[in-house]
Amino acid sequence: MKYDFDRVVERRGTHSVKWEFVPDAGNPLRWKKKAPLFGNDGTLPLWIADMDFPCPAPVVEALVARARHGIFGYTEKPPSYAGAVVRWMGRRHGWKVAPEWICATPGVVPALNLLIRTFVAPGEKVLIQPPVYYPFHSAVRNNGAKILESPLVLEGGRHFMDFDDLREKTADPLLKMAILCNPHNPVGRVWTHGELVRFGTLCRERGVLVVSDEIHGDIVHEGRRFTPFGTIGGRLSGNACICTAPSKTFNLAGLHTSNIIISDEGLRARFEKSLGRTGFLGVGPFGIAALEAAYDQGESWLEQVLAYIGGNLRFLKDFVRSGIPRIGVIAPEGTYLVWLDCRGLGMDSLRLERFWIEEAKVRVDQGSLFGKGGEGFVRMNIACPRVLLGQALDRLKRAVEKRAPLTT
Ligand SMILES: Cc1ncc(COP(=O)(O)O)c(C=O)c1O
Repeated sequence: MKYDFDRVVERRGTHSVKWEFVPDAGNPLRWKKKAPLFGNDGTLPLWIADMDFPCPAPVVEALVARARHGIFGYTEKPPSYAGAVVRWMGRRHGWKVAPEWICATPGVVPALNLLIRTFVAPGEKVLIQPPVYYPFHSAVRNNGAKILESPLVLEGGRHFMDFDDLREKTADPLLKMAILCNPHNPVGRVWTHGELVRFGTLCRERGVLVVSDEIHGDIVHEGRRFTPFGTIGGRLSGNACICTAPSKTFNLAGLHTSNIIISDEGLRARFEKSLGRTGFLGVGPFGIAALEAAYDQGESWLEQVLAYIGGNLRFLKDFVRSGIPRIGVIAPEGTYLVWLDCRGLGMDSLRLERFWIEEAKVRVDQGSLFGKGGEGFVRMNIACPRVLLGQALDRLKRAVEKRAPLTT
């Protein structure tokens, strides 16, 4: 089946966070309704990470079929649920997962919080690599642990891990966990096999548990290859809890279905015990139906959406290079998020935020939210019909020119 990603689907009226809410000041993980209700504050929303595309047709069909049954009582995952995860990871990524390694959770962010609570005692430390997905920061802080930062280094338009710094930081006796983001949100790096082995070796040698957030692992651009942490070698892979989900891949975030894959029996037993203590009863009937249909029948949709997002990325790069040269594009290797370097506009964070909302009228995620290295940057979500991306870039270009017209 051929999908039409150019079609604009009205999302207002569905309680979409992206389209109908704005971040609550001071807490980016809480949202408040835009006023007036269901109205538009005039900004084009290219923030928060979901797509403006309907998910694969087989997923919709599976959900409709399940809904038609009409009874939504307590539900347990059938063996076919783990089977679909196992088949997907094997086929797409060459990662051999055993069904019993899979722990279902209602989202990766809740899982990150629980992983920290399970493996890190209050006062102990968790390493993160800013600029990085902001819930990493809050997950550490909200669970009594301390953040240890090893900032990424930007060189020649590409971000790298700082291995000298990592060597020093992983020697801290209070460090118990390191959270890896692969592909990295927001800078779009897809870490290479070599980088992962170096990172994993340092952590393992120092007794630091790796949590690898691979929620964006299926969204990788042409010429790049995603390496799951689970494929880098038994001892290194065994020292990891790997966070996966069909949610970014197939645009299913609202179904709250994710899988934490832990090959080490001891680590898994501890995490499962913690999960049990939350009283959480597993994924619901819609999560089960959607995951199985997506992983087993959604591959053609994924190939098509990746090609479309690749087209959006080329469109954005050309537009910005020729029309808004004061802004730099850090081209992502993976994810549908683009890290835009706005330092050439000469504004501090507060001013930059107001510029995007009040002058450009485009809502993006402000770089400063992502921690060190984020000042002067913004994160733009390009998983939308090209016409919307074009409108957003036109608005941006006009706003930039209004402030400082190009003199050429
Ligand atoms: C790196 C990363 N982890 C986790 C999430 C969210 O996961 P979930 O919706 O399953 O809690 C996101 C969403 O943008 C993300 O970018």
